[in-house]
Amino acid sequence: MQTYPVDMSMKPHVEAFFDAATNTISYVISDPKTKACAVVDSVLDIDYASGRITHDHADRIVDHIITHGLTLEWIIETHVHADHLSGAPYLQEKLGGKIGISARIMEVQETFGKIFNEGTDFQRDGSQFDALFQDGDRYKIGKIDAFAMATPGHTPACMVHVMGNTAFVGDTLFMPDGGSARADFPGGDAGELYDSIQKVLTLPDELRLFMCHDYGPNGREIAWETTVADEKANNIHVGGGMSREAFVKLRSERDATLAMPKLILPSLQVNMRAGELPEDADGRPVLKVPLNQL
Ligand SMILES: [Fe+2]
Repeated sequence: MQTYPVDMSMKPHVEAFFDAATNTISYVISDPKTKACAVVDSVLDIDYASGRITHDHADRIVDHIITHGLTLEWIIETHVHADHLSGAPYLQEKLGGKIGISARIMEVQETFGKIFNEGTDFQRDGSQFDALFQDGDRYKIGKIDAFAMATPGHTPACMVHVMGNTAFVGDTLFMPDGGSARADFPGGDAGELYDSIQKVLTLPDELRLFMCHDYGPNGREIAWETTVADEKANNIHVGGGMSREAFVKLRSERDATLAMPKLILPSLQVNMRAGELPEDADGRPVLKVPLNQL
């Protein structure tokens, strides 16, 4: 098994930006020494009923980066999100930085290229992104060591990004009382998700874990930070030594009851293009609604 180079002595600053419309948490992770930063899982606002795109959430991030004199080096997507649009190109246009995602994005582009009946102008080689990460690939945010860890299961292109003593788990884990994300999207697999979570749980106990989503189960306040030790002990789907078999059963039964996320159709078309809006033949931004495909 791959061993991962966690350096707990490096302590980046983490600022969280909660999006109430989609229950997504975006992050700005910065190196206090060099003022370099990364953004993980940004959000573009959409009113799907009117087809209107706005930038309030992304602008909060832009303001934070400018106000604190940070330099944006990386714009990371933990995966192709199915419940919100990515604000990555908007941030890049304003502040620079490289947009990175798992190299397995190509599989997601292949699958959804078919579902959306995309023509040959839609590249399925990940070339819309600036960086395609393989399992274990390292990079830096200023002087902070960071690496990507492949965690397929929720989707094939899911990754956890570890930056110093912090990790951004995407949808691989939820807070302990939230359990785990669904594994029934095309290319998802509950058994693989279990294996990926076990990999995350081998990281140091005190590693700070940051969630991409929280829905405040049972009326508790929204929360997004925990540790490996807490997940191992208390996660309702995988904690306390839950077996693979039991997890797959629980996950599959629960997934069978879930409706599609409200924004899955717009999200996938935009996010598989690294956040760029699809265009019609005249170059105007447009979204498709393929019928009876999902
Ligand atoms: Fe997701």
